[in-house]
Amino acid sequence: MALSTSQKRLARLLLYALGVIVIFLVLWPLPYDRPAVRRGSAEPRARFDAIRNETLGVQKIFVINLPSRPDKRDNLVLGSSVSGFDFDWIDGVTPEELNSKSYPFNWNYDHKATEYAARRAHVNAMQRIVKDRLGSAIVMEDDVDWDVTIKTQLQSFALAVRALQGTDQNATTSPYGDDWDILWLGHCGVLCQTDVPFFLSPNDSTVLPPHHYLPYWRDPPPMEIPPHTRMACAVGDGVCSIVYAVSYHAAQKILSALSVNPADLQEKIDIGAQFDVSLGRMCGNGYLRCFAAFPSITGGYQPAGPWNKASDIHDENQDVHPASSNGVMYSTMLNINRLLGGEDNVVSTWDDAAVPVVNPANISMVGGAMHVLAEGGMYRLAAANP
Ligand SMILES: *[C@@H]1O[C@H](CO)[C@@H](O)[C@H](O)[C@H]1NC(C)=O
Ligand SMILES: *[C@@H]1O[C@H](CO)[C@@H](O)[C@H](O)[C@H]1NC(C)=O
Ligand SMILES: *[C@@H]1O[C@H](CO)[C@@H](O)[C@H](O)[C@H]1NC(C)=O
Ligand SMILES: *[C@@H]1O[C@H](CO)[C@@H](O)[C@H](O)[C@H]1NC(C)=O
Repeated sequence: MALSTSQKRLARLLLYALGVIVIFLVLWPLPYDRPAVRRGSAEPRARFDAIRNETLGVQKIFVINLPSRPDKRDNLVLGSSVSGFDFDWIDGVTPEELNSKSYPFNWNYDHKATEYAARRAHVNAMQRIVKDRLGSAIVMEDDVDWDVTIKTQLQSFALAVRALQGTDQNATTSPYGDDWDILWLGHCGVLCQTDVPFFLSPNDSTVLPPHHYLPYWRDPPPMEIPPHTRMACAVGDGVCSIVYAVSYHAAQKILSALSVNPADLQEKIDIGAQFDVSLGRMCGNGYLRCFAAFPSITGGYQPAGPWNKASDIHDENQDVHPASSNGVMYSTMLNINRLLGGEDNVVSTWDDAAVPVVNPANISMVGGAMHVLAEGGMYRLAAANP
């Protein structure tokens, strides 16, 4: 078919326009997208390998448990065996075992004796860390539940807290960086400091949507966090010491503040409180350098039976309920029979999860970017990716 001159000219014009659009599309993202990604650092994955070891990248893990609760010991022993980490016990303490002279002079006797005993067990953990000269340790309470991908989650969190510490060296003693006292991994509320930069890790399918949080006892961050995004931040305050990593130096300082010489620190740290409340104060006033994950990385497990099976500190009601888990997307405890049966896939705790059934091997470490809050909103700073 012969084309008229004007048709040819129109076709040429269209081709030309198309060419301009293609060139524009190819070039346009360059000055904006690509350097924004490149400007951030890429952390070699090998830096985070140690987190997959038997102590999750710290020197030792301790679990606090009352010897009279061997049922909880069963949970922790079995759960950690399928998740590939190992720990030592710190015996929980009952009020009857404590000489009343062991209370610090300023303990607030409005609190329960069981709360002091629980605090004492954490202080005993600090004592052990200092005594054994452990560079860092993770302390857990025995009603914890964790995601089947805990090692991957901790690697993503390590990348985030390294960025917050400004750690871009190749060699640090700890895969989590060398400039932290406390990493608050499991809590029931933290106040994130947002007057300093914080880190957002998007695209993490293990992050629960806010409607599945248990009530948090501290205000959430004052801005909207996109779905499936975990925040890593400097801690202004926190509650519930379910899981935390502590450095050797921090264990020394906590032992000093809560037992050896509380009088000197009484003004700064209201130490007559429960362990977690005191820890929150020590983080908030700068006595310790603390980082936390929001939402919490770990959660809690409720075995089937009456609610009061769960806590050895507080009395709960006797209503009977099936086994449940809170705070984790792919619960280790609720998936334990699948894991033991050799199934590849695990099931989410909630039906409305973005990915209700997943092969944990398909969940990989995520990167993210530093952000700041300034007048007018949230600004993205350098990215850090594995
Ligand atoms: C795990 O890695 C950490 C950090 O490198 C190290 O201190 C610890 O000893 C390792 N634990 C084991 C059991 O290898
Ligand atoms: C870190 O390691 C890379 C590759 O091994 C090297 O090119 C770089 O210079 C090192 N950086 C520092 C700060 O040592
Ligand atoms: C999120 O992760 C998935 C798979 O891990 C990947 O295909 C997707 O591109 C990621 N999205 C973003 C925004 O990074
Ligand atoms: C895991 O990833 C593989 C491909 O990498 C895919 O074929 C498979 O469906 C995924 N499984 C699940 C349960 O996500």
